[in-house]
Amino acid sequence: MKKIEIVKNIVLEAGKIVKEGFYAKKKVTHKSLVDLVTDYDVKTENFILDALAKEFPEYTLVGEESHHGTYHHDKVIYIDPIDGTTNFVHGIPHLAISIGVWDHGTPRMAVVYNPILDELFWAVAREGAFKNGSRLSVSTQVKLQQSLIATGFPYVKVDRGLEYHWVIQSLTDLLPNIRDIRRLGAAALDLCYLAEGKTDGFYEIDLKPWDVAAGILILLEAEGRVSNSSGKIFDFDDKGLVASNGKIHAQLLKYLRPI
Ligand code: IPD
Ligand code: CA
Ligand code: CA
Repeated sequence: MKKIEIVKNIVLEAGKIVKEGFYAKKKVTHKSLVDLVTDYDVKTENFILDALAKEFPEYTLVGEESHHGTYHHDKVIYIDPIDGTTNFVHGIPHLAISIGVWDHGTPRMAVVYNPILDELFWAVAREGAFKNGSRLSVSTQVKLQQSLIATGFPYVKVDRGLEYHWVIQSLTDLLPNIRDIRRLGAAALDLCYLAEGKTDGFYEIDLKPWDVAAGILILLEAEGRVSNSSGKIFDFDDKGLVASNGKIHAQLLKYLRPI
């Protein structure tokens, strides 16, 4: 079986656990004041780690709920068992399992799955990006003023520090110059919706590799663009991520300060 089919099957199986949890009573605990984790995040991650370890023994597995140490490895699979945990806890069906396979700093394979809506996004490097079998491509929008832009807010906003001020400044500068803003609550899906052409741009700070490792490849394979907040090649160590359909990228960067 092709490797991508193996990853898709693992994600579809894991989706059953997440879907069961969505409708069930869950044990919710706090990682910080507003950052939540549930027993289903942990259960789903454990299932995925076991399954991937059998099929991809040569890879280091970096899962949100269990990783420690560096994010950087030559062959690495980044796993977010539930991206959009806040939505999951509040009964909002916008969340996904995200798995991104990277070799030597380059994305190779990606799967993002929303088990509640049964939407499966996937990509293989140089083979395109797909949603449930249909090929994806970014929007054709060229005007920032007519663009729908997604964003997210880092959990550390509660500290009212640098990150909070950057978020507010960005909104102040950008909002009058775009059609509207969306804060949907799952960064992996923000990148997939951009790949699909539903939105035209996306930016956020403080994202972790498991939030974006899969979505980046899906977007790139749909002919989109990703950079850091200075317009340079995005690295997992960068604080800011800016993504777009490519056509509005320079206009979007103009209203976001380098961080
Ligand atoms: C979060 C979501 C959210 C983003 C946060 C992430 P989680 O992931 O992707 O959209 O704004 O920065 O941490 O905690 O639900 O896995
Ligand atoms: Ca996440
Ligand atoms: Ca998560």
